[in-house]
Amino acid sequence: MQLAPPTQPVTGKVVENVPCLNGKSSSFIRHISIDVTGTPLEGNFRAGQAFGIVPPGIDARGRSEKVRLYSISSPSRGEDGEGKVLSTTCKRALEELDLPGEEDSTLEHQLFTGKCSNYLCNLQVGDEVQVTGPAGKRFLIPQDPEQHDYLFLATGTGIAPFRGMLMDLLDSPASPVSSEIHLVMGAPYTTDLLYHDYFVQLARRHPNFHYHTVVSREIQPDGTKGGYIHHYLDRQIQLHEQLLKQDRTLMYMCGLAGMQLGVFKMLAARGLGDPFIKIKDDYLDVEPADWDSKSIRRNVRPTHRCMLEVY
Ligand code: A2P
Repeated sequence: MQLAPPTQPVTGKVVENVPCLNGKSSSFIRHISIDVTGTPLEGNFRAGQAFGIVPPGIDARGRSEKVRLYSISSPSRGEDGEGKVLSTTCKRALEELDLPGEEDSTLEHQLFTGKCSNYLCNLQVGDEVQVTGPAGKRFLIPQDPEQHDYLFLATGTGIAPFRGMLMDLLDSPASPVSSEIHLVMGAPYTTDLLYHDYFVQLARRHPNFHYHTVVSREIQPDGTKGGYIHHYLDRQIQLHEQLLKQDRTLMYMCGLAGMQLGVFKMLAARGLGDPFIKIKDDYLDVEPADWDSKSIRRNVRPTHRCMLEVY
């Protein structure tokens, strides 16, 4: 049950809206903090959950805009330490589309600007915003965090829940935990690494936290492209031994659905899948190299040690 359900949004106030990219990028991604003091959400959200935003206005069918969910990027105690301010990481949805023109068989290009992401990114400090939630009960850090080690895998804004979880695990009055924690962040360019300075600092302060970056479109010192997260994991043989083969490790993935396919295929091909994925009997004969995103949805399920938030 959401404390503020989609039918009964409550009013929050924007207290911060800043870019969270690593320098000058061609993307527009912002860290937005919302004060929910006095609403049912105050003190009642956890890192890994989502909250809803209801943009103003009406949709193309003339109805009130529907709620959109955003991952919470603040720690469970909020940005303020008292559970009053939650935050998210929002990328402006911008896309150039070719649409049928007035004349048959002609195409006209148009810039599509996502309604809610641009509304949210445009909000100024002091603006009011309609919020709902919190939502989600599985993509969470367990109650006994010290009992586990962690592999966090993110692409793009999929980093949001991991910022909050890392703050809970390493940077809160009740922490730090002694668990081994690896964060692997995938981005197209170095400038798209979100909250980069914070993670670099965190890794300096905590030897048990390891920050890995995988930059897909830039050429590496050895002349090859950075590739995707599963390519990187495949190369990190020492991580297989230290992390993937032991009983304590929990894996969390947040970001593009393609990452789930790539990582599942890699785990199965390397014989590392058992703790994290359960393959249906009649799919066991299919070579992991032949798996595709449609069939894995039906035939390969995450176990209780694998948490997924992919889109
Ligand atoms: P690329 O765009 O070079 O194909 P963002 O959300 O900021 O665009 O970042 C998403 C990142 O995830 C990019 O580096 C993107 O690479 C990468 N990516 C795209 N497809 C996959 C996939 N199937 N598995 C893992 N990473 C992916």
